[in-house]
Amino acid sequence: MARILIAASLAALALGSTPALAGDAAAGGAFFKRVCSTCHGNTTNSPPGIGPRLYGVVGRKAGSLPGYHYSAAMSAAGFAWSQDKLTAYLTNPQGLVKGNKMPYAGIPKPSDRDNVVAYLATLR
Ligand code: HEC
Repeated sequence: MARILIAASLAALALGSTPALAGDAAAGGAFFKRVCSTCHGNTTNSPPGIGPRLYGVVGRKAGSLPGYHYSAAMSAAGFAWSQDKLTAYLTNPQGLVKGNKMPYAGIPKPSDRDNVVAYLATLR
């Protein structure tokens, strides 16, 4: 009996820890509006704000949007934004791109991160 219970809770744990891609884009859109939109636009032609526009960010090379003045660190990041990279950045911006100038410490709650990343993937 105990063994069955343990197996069941392990299965539940495994399900609960589904990695990125499993986010709720609608909830992520609401989070984006509340938190990220102060600094980031989300349409094809949003002008650069405090941060670069995030329309089309998935697949875009980090630090590459023309007309936005990035930090040297972001310009030199050298990777393209995948959903995994976005999750890592939004978990700990300075951890992924040390010295970047985004004045935002990261999203503490994993489900909020997954939702925002799912939302960013719809901006294309
Ligand atoms: C207070 C302003 C501010 C907030 C809030 C903010 N950002 Fe940023 N973000 C920036 C700045 C400034 C940069 C440019 C960093 C650099 O050049 O080093 C940036 C860069 C980025 C980049 C890299 C873009 C590229 O073109 O390489 C991503 C992705 C990003 N932010 C996502 C987010 C998301 C998602 C949120 C909300 C959870 C958010 N940011 C909240 C200011 C902000």
